[in-house]
Amino acid sequence: MNPLLILSSWQCVLLITSFLTFHLKSVSTAVDPDEKRDAVELIESRGFKAETHFVRTYDGYILALHRIVDPEAVNATRKVVLLQHGLLASSADFIINAPGEGMFDESSQEVGKNIGFTLTRFGYDVWLSNSRGNTYCRNHTTLRPTQKKFWDFTWDEHALIDLPTTIDYVRNTTNSKTIGYVGHSQGTLIMFALMSSKKQYNDAIKPFIALAPIGTLNGVRTPVRYLANNQILLDYFRWRGGEFLPSNDFIRNLAESVCESRYTYICTNILFLLAGYDQLQLNFTRTAVYLTHTPAGSSAWNLCHLAQGVKTRNRVQRFDLGRLGNIEKYGQEEPPQYHFERITNKYIALMSSQNDWLSDQKDVDYIRNKLVVPPILDYVVEYPQWNHLDFIWGKDAGRIINGKIIKLLDTYAESGGGGVEI
Ligand SMILES: *[C@@H]1O[C@H](CO)[C@@H](O)[C@H](O)[C@H]1NC(C)=O
Ligand SMILES: *[C@@H]1O[C@H](CO)[C@@H](O)[C@H](O)[C@H]1NC(C)=O
Ligand SMILES: *[C@@H]1O[C@H](CO)[C@@H](O)[C@H](O)[C@H]1NC(C)=O
Ligand SMILES: *[C@@H]1O[C@H](CO)[C@@H](O)[C@H](O)[C@H]1NC(C)=O
Repeated sequence: MNPLLILSSWQCVLLITSFLTFHLKSVSTAVDPDEKRDAVELIESRGFKAETHFVRTYDGYILALHRIVDPEAVNATRKVVLLQHGLLASSADFIINAPGEGMFDESSQEVGKNIGFTLTRFGYDVWLSNSRGNTYCRNHTTLRPTQKKFWDFTWDEHALIDLPTTIDYVRNTTNSKTIGYVGHSQGTLIMFALMSSKKQYNDAIKPFIALAPIGTLNGVRTPVRYLANNQILLDYFRWRGGEFLPSNDFIRNLAESVCESRYTYICTNILFLLAGYDQLQLNFTRTAVYLTHTPAGSSAWNLCHLAQGVKTRNRVQRFDLGRLGNIEKYGQEEPPQYHFERITNKYIALMSSQNDWLSDQKDVDYIRNKLVVPPILDYVVEYPQWNHLDFIWGKDAGRIINGKIIKLLDTYAESGGGGVEI
């Protein structure tokens, strides 16, 4: 089908649902308070303390980092772990499941679903990072989000600037030689790219746990595929630049009214269309909460860059700006490649699944084959329907994913140097 047609029917759906919004308000059930909470409020509503740290990158972006503090263990010396979200997401990803589900339940030995809170209860010093351009990072020393130039970035900048700056800051603040890292989706891609490019970060991370790992994107099965195959559309996006899918009032209203109503299936189908169908693992009554926090915004260029990855066979490379643009930016006609075979980190754990429309097993194979040091864990979720979002939102994420994350961190993460000052 013609991708332009798909895009316009997509817009049609948005338009119709927005007209319905007003009418649906009256039939929708009560709004969940988590829809209105930001990451800090989510943390505090669950009985933890939250710290927000602002970190400045050398190119002027101000990144917000959220830290979860357990008020009952303020003086403990803790192992430090950084959790990094994926595309169009935010720090809220790791703390967004229903309350009570993230705590350690002594009786059932279930480790719960909110990996951020679970790790805190397990004695970790938990930091949640945000990439430039998302809900919490629309801040720059000289540029404003209304300026196109603010959005001239892709995951290249997340990988080569945001991530190392964040890691340095967390290591400095906690006085830690190494920190643990859990990335989801694009959060794994940027770590692979960083470790391929700057050798010293291989030694700073122990372990690196990759949920739904991304390198090449040749097996992608979602609408991104259609975008990727339409050169005119791609060129237009690249030329237009600017912001893509911010968490604005329009989307929020839509999420609140439609997803809360008896038309929930519209929202769940949008999610399934993007991530793979898994009816059993998605908590339908919570869709509205998820969709008021996601999408959290990124740049149009970033979407272009990812779409380019769908077409680039067996290579992971920097943003292709066209021949002239490449010469100007990189000093060569083709964008430089990331060489995953240069990764020297010895503590990489891969967790992937079979029904992931964005992290296909063929593409995970690319990573497996490139890594020179064999991973400490190469786990493919046994449950066949497990999709891209189930790693963070799945009803059984506690049992299937988080238990393994804790075990890996307990085994491989190192204690910080001086403990935590609060
Ligand atoms: C933490 O340490 C400080 C200073 O050593 C002390 O005053 C405080 O009571 C301690 N807090 C707890 C909860 O142990
Ligand atoms: C922007 O960053 C500064 C710290 O440099 C912070 O005080 C301010 O709250 C931030 N603004 C937003 C909207 O995040
Ligand atoms: C971390 O500490 C080093 C050495 O003191 C310093 O050069 C660097 O700017 C710090 N980085 C951050 C992000 O705080
Ligand atoms: C599903 O979400 C609802 C609403 O947030 C929550 O009350 C419930 O505990 C969740 N159920 C499961 C099984 O996750």
